Amino acid sequence: MSGLSGKKRVYLETYGCQMNFSDSEIVASVMTDHGFTVTERQEEADVVFLNTCSIRDHAEQRVLNRLRELQHLRKKRPGMIIGVLGCMAERLKTALLEESELGMRIDMVVGPDAYRQLPSLMLDAEQGQAAINVLLSADETYADISPVRYGGNGVSAFISIMRGCENYCAYCVVPFTRGQERSRDPLSILGEVQQLVDAGYREVTLLGQNVNSYRWKDPDTLAETTFSDLLAEVAATDPLLRLRFATSHPKDIPDRLLHTMAAHQNICRAIHLPVQSGSSRVLARMNRKYSREDYLERVAAIRAILPGCAISTDIITGFCGETEEDHRETLSLMEEVGFDYAYMFKYSERPGTLAAKKFRDDVPDGVKSRRLTEVIELQQSLSMASNRRDLHSVQEVLVEGYSRRSEKQMMGRSSHNKVVVFPSGDHQSGDYVQVRITGCSSATLKGEAI
Ligand code: SAH
Ligand code: SF4
Ligand code: F3S
Repeated sequence: MSGLSGKKRVYLETYGCQMNFSDSEIVASVMTDHGFTVTERQEEADVVFLNTCSIRDHAEQRVLNRLRELQHLRKKRPGMIIGVLGCMAERLKTALLEESELGMRIDMVVGPDAYRQLPSLMLDAEQGQAAINVLLSADETYADISPVRYGGNGVSAFISIMRGCENYCAYCVVPFTRGQERSRDPLSILGEVQQLVDAGYREVTLLGQNVNSYRWKDPDTLAETTFSDLLAEVAATDPLLRLRFATSHPKDIPDRLLHTMAAHQNICRAIHLPVQSGSSRVLARMNRKYSREDYLERVAAIRAILPGCAISTDIITGFCGETEEDHRETLSLMEEVGFDYAYMFKYSERPGTLAAKKFRDDVPDGVKSRRLTEVIELQQSLSMASNRRDLHSVQEVLVEGYSRRSEKQMMGRSSHNKVVVFPSGDHQSGDYVQVRITGCSSATLKGEAI
């Protein structure tokens, strides 16, 4: 079963948010430390891990379909181990091991705080024993594990700086699948940043479910490091290293943070600030802890302190009790802010959440869909308007590689996190290129190096 190298091969497939992609790099690290190699070809895998997402029902259905497909692959490779990691493992727990109910066999179920146990769980699974660990931890941050950056572009990397969430937004499953909020030791973060710089990386994105509630208390000196402090320290590592962060909660974005961004040119001018709804009534039911007015006040602060900063968002349509009036308030807020881009979703009830317990999922599916379409159409025109504003400007683009269509074009991102495509010339991945913008669609800017 083993390859020429004698090593067993693990194939990793990741669903969901950037945190999950970052976690898969931890999984790759744990597995390679125990003698496995990571393969990009599932047909030669000895172990297949799906790192899963529970955020919406659709996300879980995709994974279940994929697991069914893998059962067929296993017929050709008897002995292949199939493991479910991540949020679905945490949410569904032993139910994933019930072969008769699920209609398929899964060998391993491992939650997001148990990845250090993967090698021993593998041994159990290989001996045909149920291998499950879904314990959540109050302090696991994997701070000492160096992620294996498989499949990346060698230019930009994610660094996970905190884990968990305790905000309990009424619709959201994350506090149940990711557990308590905990921050990672800043020294280990700065060490990882330096390693990336030494390896030639040019951009890091600091990750957390609520990245701006990062807070570290030194156990010896009791000195506190806030998110603003950390951002300033990371930015000072190297002026050629770009810095991004995601995701920020609107209740937690003080002026101090905006001033820190303003003081460092290498902190990108882009803030992802999920609003979810433009109606204060809906926001209260969602337990978001801010009103429409609070949100607009923070947007005004961003505009004042960081002129030209891109603002992007997440929106949910059809949350419990959402009326046409509430929906129109979402549309009007979108126009008022003029978001540069947005991720938009139809509300999907998640078992066990506050909303599932307290409210009826009473907006008919057709209405949710129609509202979603309206939100998407409006955002398309706002994105187009945002991109048109960039026409004729010069953007500093960090090159990530060739464009998907052809090697004659390169792609990279502007500070505003917009994808920019331009003729390759003799530019390389990792270069900063000044690009004059000559054209655009709602999704991409096109230009020429100057
Ligand atoms: N921690 C981040 C986002 C986590 S999930 C934050 O607080 O902003 C990413 C997005 O998925 C959310 O911002 C929300 O818009 C959406 N989402 C979360 N739960 C959902 C649900 N039950 N149905 C539909 N969309 C949901
Ligand atoms: Fe979910 Fe809210 Fe936490 Fe974001 S802040 S992960 S939406 S509970
Ligand atoms: Fe999904 Fe878990 Fe991320 S539910 S969005 S993978 S934290």
